[in-house]
Amino acid sequence: MRGLALSIAATALADLAGALPAASSSASEASSYTSSSSIPLPYTPSGGLDTNGSLPVYAPLTDFDYQSLNLGLYQELIELDLFQNGLAKFSAEDFQNEGLNADDLYLLQFMAEQEVGHATAIADMLGPNNASVACEYSYPFQTVQEFLQFSEYITRFGEAGTYGFLEHLNSRAAAQIVLQAITTEARQEMVFRQFQGIFPMPFWFTSAITQSMQWTLMAPYIVGCPDNNTRVQFQNFPGLNITNSPNVTQLTANSSAAVSSNETDWTTPGQTIHLEWENPGKSVGPNNSYTTNTTAGEPKFVAWISQLNVTYTPLTNVSGNSGQTTQPNLTIYSESKYSNGSTAPLINGTVFVLVTDDDVPVTPANLTFLNQHVVAGPAAYFSG
Ligand SMILES: *[C@@H]1O[C@H](CO)[C@@H](O)[C@H](O)[C@H]1NC(C)=O
Ligand SMILES: *[C@@H]1O[C@H](CO)[C@@H](O)[C@H](O)[C@H]1NC(C)=O
Ligand SMILES: *[C@@H]1O[C@H](CO)[C@@H](O)[C@H](O)[C@H]1NC(C)=O
Ligand SMILES: *[C@@H]1O[C@H](CO)[C@@H](O)[C@H](O)[C@H]1NC(C)=O
Ligand SMILES: *[C@@H]1O[C@H](CO)[C@@H](O)[C@H](O)[C@H]1NC(C)=O
Ligand SMILES: *[C@@H]1O[C@H](CO)[C@@H](O)[C@H](O)[C@H]1NC(C)=O
Ligand SMILES: *[C@@H]1O[C@H](CO)[C@@H](O)[C@H](O)[C@H]1NC(C)=O
Ligand SMILES: *[C@@H]1O[C@H](CO)[C@@H](O)[C@H](O)[C@H]1NC(C)=O
Ligand SMILES: *[C@@H]1O[C@H](CO)[C@@H](O)[C@H](O)[C@H]1NC(C)=O
Ligand SMILES: *[C@@H]1O[C@H](CO)[C@@H](O)[C@H](O)[C@H]1NC(C)=O
Ligand SMILES: *[C@@H]1O[C@H](CO)[C@@H](O)[C@H](O)[C@H]1NC(C)=O
Ligand SMILES: *[C@@H]1O[C@H](CO)[C@@H](O)[C@H](O)[C@H]1NC(C)=O
Repeated sequence: MRGLALSIAATALADLAGALPAASSSASEASSYTSSSSIPLPYTPSGGLDTNGSLPVYAPLTDFDYQSLNLGLYQELIELDLFQNGLAKFSAEDFQNEGLNADDLYLLQFMAEQEVGHATAIADMLGPNNASVACEYSYPFQTVQEFLQFSEYITRFGEAGTYGFLEHLNSRAAAQIVLQAITTEARQEMVFRQFQGIFPMPFWFTSAITQSMQWTLMAPYIVGCPDNNTRVQFQNFPGLNITNSPNVTQLTANSSAAVSSNETDWTTPGQTIHLEWENPGKSVGPNNSYTTNTTAGEPKFVAWISQLNVTYTPLTNVSGNSGQTTQPNLTIYSESKYSNGSTAPLINGTVFVLVTDDDVPVTPANLTFLNQHVVAGPAAYFSG
């Protein structure tokens, strides 16, 4: 039944995607259709990108676009496999025991079908000979709760990685399509939190990470890919582990699926975090054909990527490849003209932490300049 539903969805969505101009339409072809009218349209403010009637190009325009879309496709394909895997691995009774009924399972199946659509749209933009296919994956979960937590984590870094590159794509038309996919995936991420019975969105802004951070987090779960899949060109940073993180069984012990619930804090500001990281040079990812690398110097700081900014705390008690730090005690704004002093904690939800050699100031639109300072990570910090 599921297989049938999926293949029907695949056909329908391929047809839709086929309605977009094929990847072969080049930028120069597109510009020849450009309207030469310089008379502004009514109620249309001047400015903006691609607002002059130039034909949208739903294809990569630069290598940056191509590599980013390729990474995005790898993300869609792991999500498709993951959701199907969870549905196949656990019985309706297993899900029922965690408070998930048949309607919830249909939602999970529908999320897998959405991945078919997203993968098809990106594949169509990359072109038939450049679109990678599914790989073989390995997942760390044994229970339904672990599956839900892992799915929340995978969608969380997929979302963050995409937000990181979307605004930098040369092809604004391609960005438009990816935007319409990723906002749907953000809803998936929230649904996985609700399936776990935890607060659906305990932050004001959804943070972004770089492509290399996304690839670092994804690669460990890819066992092997077909030889002619397009290789991912981004960096694999050395792995980072928060060794005193509570496990998911402890975190969700008292939870059951709910639209929202006031949860017990998993972590608190000022709490000590123990970190352990790997040396560079480890083989990771598909067919172990990627090697972790860092261009950073000595480990000195811990970067916390959360909400709208990157905050650093000092890395202390460094000994070999381990050290510790404390969770920042900050709020997202110190004041606002729209409230009487109330604001949100800076650290809440699934936050990304990295060990760095410097506390270089970066903001969401230039986060990529953090890459060269990464000693290890990111690791996901499940703070609430
Ligand atoms: C239309 O706008 C795009 C960028 O938004 C620009 O690259 C292109 O040159 C413009 N075309 C014309 C005819 O002004
Ligand atoms: C694949 O992408 C590369 C990089 O953009 C490009 O040079 C090549 O022409 C593409 N191949 C096909 C078949 O689209
Ligand atoms: C890999 O090869 C297969 C078989 O020739 C082909 O169907 C597929 O399009 C190729 N994929 C890529 C990404 O080149
Ligand atoms: C995180 O958000 C949850 C849900 O709103 C809230 O219960 C918790 O107190 C927040 N954590 C912190 C540290 O404020
Ligand atoms: C992280 O550290 C914990 C505690 O030492 C350990 O149980 C776990 O296996 C480690 N995870 C990885 C991926 O190394
Ligand atoms: C999580 O922690 C609990 C309590 O310490 C333990 O019983 C359980 O085996 C752990 N689960 C995993 C998957 O490590
Ligand atoms: C679950 O409930 C028990 C008993 O009330 C409490 O000791 C424990 O801290 C709770 N765990 C979580 C993660 O809220
Ligand atoms: C949930 O948390 C909020 C914020 O701390 C609090 O105002 C509210 O009373 C709580 N609701 C319940 C049912 O505990
Ligand atoms: C966090 O900051 C608040 C406001 O400055 C302060 O009241 C509180 O004691 C701090 N908590 C910790 C654990 O440092
Ligand atoms: C890391 O990358 C640099 C630059 O490409 C290279 O010189 C170095 O050998 C790499 N290190 C490892 C451990 O692979
Ligand atoms: C991030 O925002 C918090 C709250 O505004 C602020 O205290 C902190 O200094 C900021 N960090 C950076 C690196 O800008
Ligand atoms: C990133 O942008 C911020 C302004 O938003 C600037 O203060 C910072 O210096 C920039 N960082 C780098 C590494 O260029």
